Amino acid sequence: MLARLSSFPKYALGTFPTPLEQAPRLSEELGIELMFKRDDAVELALGGNKVRKLEYLIGDALSKGYDTVITTGATHSNHARLTAAAAVKAGLRAYLVLTPPGSRELKGNLLLDKLLGAEVVFTESDPVKEMEILAEELREKGLKPYVIPAGGASPVGVLGYVEAAAELMEQVRALGKGINYVVLADGTCAMHAGLLLGLRALGVEEVGVVGISVGKARGAAKDVVRRLTNEAAELLGIENPVREGDIVVVDDYVFGGYGNITKEVVEAMRLAATKEAIILDPVYTGKAFAGLIDLARNGYFPRGSVVVFIHSGGSPIVFQYDEQIASFLQSTTF
Ligand SMILES: Cc1ncc(COP(=O)(O)O)c(C=O)c1O
Repeated sequence: MLARLSSFPKYALGTFPTPLEQAPRLSEELGIELMFKRDDAVELALGGNKVRKLEYLIGDALSKGYDTVITTGATHSNHARLTAAAAVKAGLRAYLVLTPPGSRELKGNLLLDKLLGAEVVFTESDPVKEMEILAEELREKGLKPYVIPAGGASPVGVLGYVEAAAELMEQVRALGKGINYVVLADGTCAMHAGLLLGLRALGVEEVGVVGISVGKARGAAKDVVRRLTNEAAELLGIENPVREGDIVVVDDYVFGGYGNITKEVVEAMRLAATKEAIILDPVYTGKAFAGLIDLARNGYFPRGSVVVFIHSGGSPIVFQYDEQIASFLQSTTF
């Protein structure tokens, strides 16, 4: 499988492996052995999980002679910011089609999108259609636009996390221990699909991958994970080793919907910050971590389980939602 993976064009955007960090104080608090896989710490433009996907997506675009990238996401999208950054590195033009939710005030990721020189287009209609229209306009002007779906959730993007699965297992083996669970935030579900496919394709059956949805209902998220594992396996030319029972999504920690921030989310962010100096964001990793805390406290992970939380980035969102976070910090006594 790894030999097949290395046959795909890749454009280097970060230094890997990212750190796998022990979290002794949170481990004690939660009764599990917790580690953070620090994909937030990859160096491209404040980092995050999209860097791995973009290495393959930009590699694909460059190998086919495209000169422009178009993508979409919410107004605070990390994926949009990192696509803009990757485009700068690769010498491509970047167009970002941004949708609600999120304020259009120039803060956080949106500020960085502008700083990185991306063309930002706001829309309230179907972003997929908007991207098609924009691509057609750019083609008429003589450009060659490569359209990247939201979150880099295409079979090519998924390859980045297939590779991450191999990287993680190598680090775990070097530590001389096994792991029981990987917990991550499910947005477009591409990270989940890639990790699960990668682990099973490597013959790692004993590690459960638990996706905590930040917006989608469980059934819809599972459908996307299933579809993306099928499509990425086909792209790799392998039989999909992922079984139905392997696809685990929890949707109890959406907290009112995608982009909605509650006290529980800020509480989880505060726990990670005060115990381990880990900065989570309120839209993705804060929600997923709130889920991990609650699952751990309710005995979902047998005592002493080794659990890896994928820190998938998102720190600029903290500064886009600063007022909401501050008001929870000021008004509650946790
Ligand atoms: C910080 C962060 N974490 C997690 C996710 C979820 O990843 P995926 O879209 O692959 O499910 C995203 C993007 O959607 C993100 O920006």
